[in-house]
Amino acid sequence: MSKKTAAKSAPKKAAKSAAKAGGSSKSLLVENRVFKPAAEFAKKARISSMAQYKAMHAESLKHPDKFFGREAKELLWSKPFKKVLDWKCPNAKWFTGGKLNVSENCLDRHLHDSRKTKAALIWEGEPGEKRVLTYQQLHREVCRFANVLKRHKVKKGDRVIIYMPMIPEAAIAMLACTRIGAVHSVIFGGFSAESIKDRVLDSGASIIITADGGYRRGAVVPLKKNVDDALKGKDTPVKTVVVFRRTGQDVHIEEGRDVWWHRELEYVDAHCAAVAMDSESPLFILYTSGSTGKPKGILHSTGGYLLHAQMTSKYVFDLRDDDVYWCTADVGWVTGHTYMVYGPLALGATSLMYEGAPNWPENDRFWRIIEEYAVTVFYTAPTAIRAFMKWGDNWLKKHDLSSLRLLGTVGEPINPEAWMWYHNKVGGGRCPIVDTWWQTETGGHMITPLPGAVPTKPGTATLPFFGVDVGIVDDLGKEVGANEQGKLVIKKPWPSMLRGIWGDKKRYQETYWSEFKGWYFAGDGARRDKDGYIWIIGRIDDVLNVAGHRLGTAEVESALVSHPTVAEAAVVGRPDEMKGQGVVCFVTVKEGVKTSHELASELKKHVRNVIGPVATPDEVRFAAALPKTRSGKIMRRLLKQIAAGELIKGDTTTLEDINVIAQLAASGED
Ligand code: WT7
Repeated sequence: MSKKTAAKSAPKKAAKSAAKAGGSSKSLLVENRVFKPAAEFAKKARISSMAQYKAMHAESLKHPDKFFGREAKELLWSKPFKKVLDWKCPNAKWFTGGKLNVSENCLDRHLHDSRKTKAALIWEGEPGEKRVLTYQQLHREVCRFANVLKRHKVKKGDRVIIYMPMIPEAAIAMLACTRIGAVHSVIFGGFSAESIKDRVLDSGASIIITADGGYRRGAVVPLKKNVDDALKGKDTPVKTVVVFRRTGQDVHIEEGRDVWWHRELEYVDAHCAAVAMDSESPLFILYTSGSTGKPKGILHSTGGYLLHAQMTSKYVFDLRDDDVYWCTADVGWVTGHTYMVYGPLALGATSLMYEGAPNWPENDRFWRIIEEYAVTVFYTAPTAIRAFMKWGDNWLKKHDLSSLRLLGTVGEPINPEAWMWYHNKVGGGRCPIVDTWWQTETGGHMITPLPGAVPTKPGTATLPFFGVDVGIVDDLGKEVGANEQGKLVIKKPWPSMLRGIWGDKKRYQETYWSEFKGWYFAGDGARRDKDGYIWIIGRIDDVLNVAGHRLGTAEVESALVSHPTVAEAAVVGRPDEMKGQGVVCFVTVKEGVKTSHELASELKKHVRNVIGPVATPDEVRFAAALPKTRSGKIMRRLLKQIAAGELIKGDTTTLEDINVIAQLAASGED
C-alpha cells in the first residue's frame, strides 16, 4: 500500500506520525485510539473487567500454587497431583505426582454429556470436500489409530514423526500418540526431505505417519515422495511408514516398511485405554529455528502444557459451547498444536480445519468458509491480513461475516493499519481483537488482551496473561524506562514452558537461561508504554520472521555454503510489506566461479531443496567480500542496512575493509 492511500484511509484521530509501530516499515501510521471491550461482549465474557484481570493476575504471580492448583482442577486427572510447582532453574516440574492423559482430556471426558454428538472437528479440503467429526467419532478414530501404533510396537516415550496435510487424520495421529504416551513430532508440509531426515535422526523416531500427498493452491504436495527421499540410502531408525491416502496419486510403497492407513484399520478394534501419564512426561517435540544452523527440538510436557492450552482457550478466546472456532494455522506449527487441536478440544469446543490456501480457487475462500460455517471466533496471522488487504475489500463484501464475535492474531507484530482493517472490515467494528504474543517455546499465549476486560490499542499485545511475569530490561537486567526499548524476559516459570531442547541440555541452558540469571530470555525486543502495555519490536537474535514463520539466518547460510559454488554466505532480513521480513542472501563465490542471474536462481532453488519452500530467498546478491570486523565477525548490522536500501548508519570503524561496503551496496544478482 502506498503512503498516500494509507493516509487517506486513516481515521481522523490517528496521528500520522512517521514513527514506525512494531519496529517494521510495514506500518505507515500510528493509531492512537483505544478500543474498549464492547459492553455486550464484556457482559458475557469470563473475565469482564480490568479490575478482575488485575486481581487474578496479581494472585497468579503471588500465589501460583493456589491459582494454578485451582485452575488445574478443571483438567481430568487419573491421579491427583501433590505439588503445583517444583522449580530449580532452568528445570520446572508442574503438578508433580499427578497423572493424566491428554487424549482422555480432549475426548473421553466430553462423551458423558451433550458434547458427545457435538462437532469436535469441522474440516474442509482445498478441493471442497467437507467432513464433520463429532467428539464420539473423533474418539473412535483416535482409539483405532492408537491401536495401529501399538500394532507397530510404538510404546510410551517412543517418538513418532507426523508429516501430513491439513486433514483430520493429522489431529487423529497426534491424539493417538498422546493416548498411548508416545511423543509426536509434527513436521510442517513445507519442509523438504533433507529437513525431515535431520528431524528423524535428531528425534530418533521409529515411525513416520504421512499421506500420499496434500493439496495446496490447486497443486499436490508430494509428501510421501519427500519421506522416501529423506529415508533413502541412509541408516535411519525408521522401521514403519504409515501412509494415508489423500490424493490418490501413485506412490512408491516400500515392502516391509510402508503400510496404508486404511488397510491397517482393518486389523484393529476401537477400544484403546488411555495410558495415565505423569504430568511431566514428554508430550511432543516441535522443531523450530534458532541462531545456529541446527533447528532445536522444543520439548513440551503433559500437565502444564494442557492446562495452559485449555486456560488460554477459555480466557483469551472465551470459547463457548456454541462457538465455531477457526484457527488458520497449519498443524505443523505450534499454533496448530495448541490452538487448533489441544486447547479447543480440551475445552470441548468446535474447531474448524481447512486444508489449503486462502486464495484458492479465489481470493475469498476464507470469507466463504466463515459464512458457510458461521464461524464465531477467527484466529489468523498479520501476514495473511495484509494479503487480504491487498486483494481488496470486494472479496469480503460478497459474504456475510456477521457470525464473527472475536478476532485474534499471532506470529509477528501487527501494524496498526492492518489491525484497523481487520477490525473494521472483517470484524465489522464490533469484534474485539486479541493480539497474542507467544512462541513455540512458551507453548501458549503469554502477552495478550483478555477480550472482555482489556482495552486494546492497535499494534500492541497489551498485558501479560495469568502467571506471566514480564520484564523489559537492559543488558544488565535492569528494567528500562517507559517507552524505552529493552530485551523481553519472563521472570517466573509458567505451566506450558518448554522443558528443554531434545537431546541438548547445554543448548537449552545457554539459549534461554544464560543471558539473565534465573530469567527466560525470549529473543525479542520490546518496550512498555506509559499504561504498561507491551509493544513487541521483533527478534533481536539471528532469527527471521518470514510470513509468521521462523527461520534462522544460520540455517539458510549453511544451506548456501553446501552448494559447490559458494565460498561464504551471510543472510539477513529486510522489511517486507507483505511477509514482514524477506530473506536476502549475500554470497561470495569460490575462485573461478562466474556469477550470473542463473546462478542466483539456482542458489534460491538450492535453499528450497535443502530446507523447504518456507525458506525460499527473496534475493541473492553476489559480493567480492563480506563486511567483517578485524576479528573476522560478519557485520550483519551493515548488511541489514544494505539489504533494506538504507544508507549506512552507525559505527563502521571496526570494519576491516571499508571498500567492501561500497561494493556491496552496488551489488546485484549478477
Ligand atoms: C516469535 C515466535 C506463537 C506462534 C507463532 C510463532 C513473534 C509471535 C507475536 C505477536 C509480535 C509476535 C515473536 C516471537 N511473534 N506472536 N503477537 N506480536 N510478535 O511462533 O515460530 O515460535 O515465533 O514470533 O518474535 O518470538 P514462533
